[in-house]
Amino acid sequence: MSTNSAKALFEPFRSAKLSLDNRIVMAPMTRGFSPGGVPSEDVAAYYKRRAENGVGLIVTEGTLINHPAAGASTRWPHFYGANALNGWSGVVNAVHGAGGKIMPQLWHLGITRKPGTGTNPDAPSVGPSGLNLAGEQVGEPLTEAEIADLIAAYAQAAADAKRLGFDGIELHGAHGYLIDQFFWGVTNTRTDRFGGGLVKRTRFAAEVVEACRRAVGPDFPIMLRFSQWKDGAYDARLAKDADELALFLQPLTDAGVDVFHCSTRRFWEPAFDDGVDLNLAAWTKKLTGKPTITVGSVGLDLEFTRFFKEKKGAGITGIEELLERLDRGEFDLVAIGRALLGDPAWAAKIKEGRESELRPFTPEATQTLY
Ligand SMILES: Cc1cc2nc3c(=O)[nH]c(=O)nc-3n(C[C@H](O)[C@H](O)[C@H](O)COP(=O)(O)O)c2cc1C
Repeated sequence: MSTNSAKALFEPFRSAKLSLDNRIVMAPMTRGFSPGGVPSEDVAAYYKRRAENGVGLIVTEGTLINHPAAGASTRWPHFYGANALNGWSGVVNAVHGAGGKIMPQLWHLGITRKPGTGTNPDAPSVGPSGLNLAGEQVGEPLTEAEIADLIAAYAQAAADAKRLGFDGIELHGAHGYLIDQFFWGVTNTRTDRFGGGLVKRTRFAAEVVEACRRAVGPDFPIMLRFSQWKDGAYDARLAKDADELALFLQPLTDAGVDVFHCSTRRFWEPAFDDGVDLNLAAWTKKLTGKPTITVGSVGLDLEFTRFFKEKKGAGITGIEELLERLDRGEFDLVAIGRALLGDPAWAAKIKEGRESELRPFTPEATQTLY
């Protein structure tokens, strides 16, 4: 592939609130290198290395909002407390110093958090109805007051992100974690305003977005990552067809989401079984008119869940099909996960036509912060 053929990836991106040098987004990837929840200089250097090698926008690893049961490891970064926020300030400065842009991914695991883990092992895990992803009762339903506290914690994190100089926020609403547990009928059987049909189940996310918006003002970008699939439930569906997807997306758009990050494992797969060759990001863009990010096995020959299930790496593949879809305007931005984890210079190598130098993704790459 020549430099020229990758041109679509290196077109600047301009939207009302967000301008990027190119279309490459680093996908959020939990690393577990922040002991005590504090990202230190090596975390800053890790992100800076990607920025100076031409990544247009970095979305950080999931970073925990201020709630006792948000996380399941003492090595995942917090997005609260003076030390952690000071660490994040160093990360922002390092990335900006290299000419990059960066947004934190705000994360709460919800009921999938293993009891007894994380910074507050005694705190009970929480979810909308106390149901786990298999639909089993493992806890109590959240009270309205507890839901209000969670929404406030997201909003506080958004305000802190803006204060620290981040370029926006991403809300983690995917993969079966807290926000997604409200979206999904298996984990949300509430009968109050946070539960009901698909549209009513967007209420929690919409209120989180609205509270974040109040905290950051009209001009600060808010991205929402969502997925059909859930951790361990890859056939799960929030929307069974495009009409349902439109219903699902409308209240989120109305609430103020600026960019939708549509998480799939293989970007080339059609979102629905309707004979239309559009993936989730393409449908989302078409239905909302908002910019979207696609993701899933870009440049790699195995999907990422094979790493978690079987500790498998992945080999390099061409990105011609991705470029064609991007060129057609099906989506606006492309998130790269493992390829960028394994090779900090992925973007620079693609830009300069140095594909032969690309490094494959190996499980060992997850053991270092290079
Ligand atoms: C080690 C690792 C950690 C991840 N952590 C997160 C995370 O914190 N938040 C998230 O939304 N997705 C997470 N993901 C999913 C990635 O963001 C991405 O969607 C997935 O790896 C597919 O992209 P890829 O095929 O380019 O790797 C993680 C993936 C990997 C491999």
